[in-house]
Amino acid sequence: MTKWPQPLLAAFRSAEHIVALTGAGISAESGIPTFRDAQTGLWAKFRPEELATPEAFARNPGRVWAWYTWRRSLIEQAKPNPAHKALAAMERLAPKFTLLTQNIDGLHQMAGSQQVIELHGNIRRTICAENRHAVEKWEPVPEGEAPRCPICGSPLRPDVVWFGEALPADAPEAAYAASRNADVMLVVGTSAMMQPTAMLPVLAAEHGAYLVEINPQETALTEFMDAVLKGPAGKILPELVRAVWGEEIRDA
Ligand code: APR
Repeated sequence: MTKWPQPLLAAFRSAEHIVALTGAGISAESGIPTFRDAQTGLWAKFRPEELATPEAFARNPGRVWAWYTWRRSLIEQAKPNPAHKALAAMERLAPKFTLLTQNIDGLHQMAGSQQVIELHGNIRRTICAENRHAVEKWEPVPEGEAPRCPICGSPLRPDVVWFGEALPADAPEAAYAASRNADVMLVVGTSAMMQPTAMLPVLAAEHGAYLVEINPQETALTEFMDAVLKGPAGKILPELVRAVWGEEIRDA
């Protein structure tokens, strides 16, 4: 991006508090399929909406466990891309920075972000279905079954938010507070289909935030934006950090 809108540069340079809201698109360039990408291979015949639900897990815990084991294997091979690294740099460079993510891959933390609110949990953490006991090691089980909690014996599941489940206890309040207090909100790589996430940028704008969207496509939020930067986050975010703060992002 060569020609930056002056109001955008001014908004970032004068911002006390920058809030970034990210979705699956920011991890696309790390090789992790987004939700709206078609499922590939073994899982092509399923949609996430059919597997990432408490009902699917109650009906067939082994199948849901196997799907998450496959997704975790993809994620464990993935590395943070320049977009993740640019947001980690922004946290260091801005007076105050909060990162709200719908992603469960933990790549923001791997890139060095610390102020991360995981709205949908984290696939790298495993809990049990009955009592949410945190479990790090479990007895292997035959293919098609879900392992059991060593404490209470209930089936294990990933510590993520399924369709129809409540967000983690303190996440919504923290996300609302950050959005109300934002001077700039950067919305990166989300189709903005899920609530309450999709209303956070509108809440931020109601409290005077300058809204910026980074996405190759238009979304339901595009019309609310003060600036729309169309393209891949892995290219645009490092350019934005260079334009505002003069800092180079490695591997960009
Ligand atoms: N850079 C930026 N954005 C990208 C890129 C990229 N390289 N590639 C794709 N995108 C955009 C797509 O255009 C789309 O708008 O990322 C967005 C991905 O949208 P979804 O797949 O719907 O993912 P997300 O918005 O995170 O989904 C939100 O819905 O499925 C549930 O709980 C699940 O957290 C998920 C939530």
